[in-house]
Amino acid sequence: MLAAFHETSHQLDFLRPMNSLLAEFERGSIADRAHETAAIETHLGALHAAWDRVFPAFPACPWRRRTLAWEYHRGCRDAYLRRLVVAHVPMLAGDNRLIVNPATVLGRHARSLARALPAWQVVGTDIDPLAGRLHRLVTIWQGHPPPNYRFERENVFEPDRARRPTVVTFFGACGSVTDGCLDYAIAAQAPLLVCRSCCHDNIGGNTDIVRRPRPINWFFACKNWGFARIKKKRNGFYFADRYCRAAYPRSTAARAIIDSDTIIAVAQNAPDSDICRHIVDLDRCLYLRENGYDVMYREELFFAHRRADVAP
Ligand SMILES: C[S@@+](CC[C@H](N)C(=O)[O-])C[C@H]1O[C@@H](n2cnc3c(N)ncnc32)[C@H](O)[C@@H]1O
Repeated sequence: MLAAFHETSHQLDFLRPMNSLLAEFERGSIADRAHETAAIETHLGALHAAWDRVFPAFPACPWRRRTLAWEYHRGCRDAYLRRLVVAHVPMLAGDNRLIVNPATVLGRHARSLARALPAWQVVGTDIDPLAGRLHRLVTIWQGHPPPNYRFERENVFEPDRARRPTVVTFFGACGSVTDGCLDYAIAAQAPLLVCRSCCHDNIGGNTDIVRRPRPINWFFACKNWGFARIKKKRNGFYFADRYCRAAYPRSTAARAIIDSDTIIAVAQNAPDSDICRHIVDLDRCLYLRENGYDVMYREELFFAHRRADVAP
């Protein structure tokens, strides 16, 4: 499977679809659900077809794009991601059987991976241990967590660099936390990176969104009210100077077609627009490729494997 992945990934172009989606954004044709669906099929169809050639069937979402129901379908995508990790780790070289799940929130995905992979150590990390503790409390009937799982309190913007995971995986890491997790994988030279991004509106220190009269927009407006207050505290939660506005776009390739002000404007429209979310994520695909990974992408899910770790 990894050989087919690398062969297919090599042929993929992320810059052209990013440019096409950017043209949609600049034309103002975003946030209309029917148009968004058609535009994504047109501009990302090749990436989706490539994904289908390499990976098991992608979980179909019965809900309309950019609705709260669509947003909460992410649980199905997370379960799909976990299955991809479990299916691929046996193919990874080396005897360091360590999986790190940064921004682990409740730790349930990490514990589930630990149960599925008893021969691997799984470390869930998060800057805030509270959520994990609360979850353990309410799920006490599940008994003790698997012995090969542990939680470590950690700010992903200042990670423990001594730890050398073979796999970095996460299931939603808001805004620049995703970029902190990608940089952690790159710095640790983790062979496999499997993850889902989220809250694209919070990249580059941004907490402003374009308002539109719909439930998903109200939800993100409330969230950003809270995030703006968290940001002021400068306590490492969600925001870091290293991931300020000027740090975006992340990739050199994307900087040729979009500047920081435009990508932040794109982010401010991301709550209502998958076109905008994909623009931010395609930049991340280019960034991973520039940092030694082959990568494939679909609907906020990334599967990346380091070229240097391809078996001879
Ligand atoms: C709220 S969750 C994301 C859930 C997500 N919206 C989803 O789609 O599933 C984000 C997690 O990131 C953690 N987090 C925030 N800043 C962090 C940092 N600097 N380092 C590590 N974890 C961080 C938070 O504590 C939280 O548990």
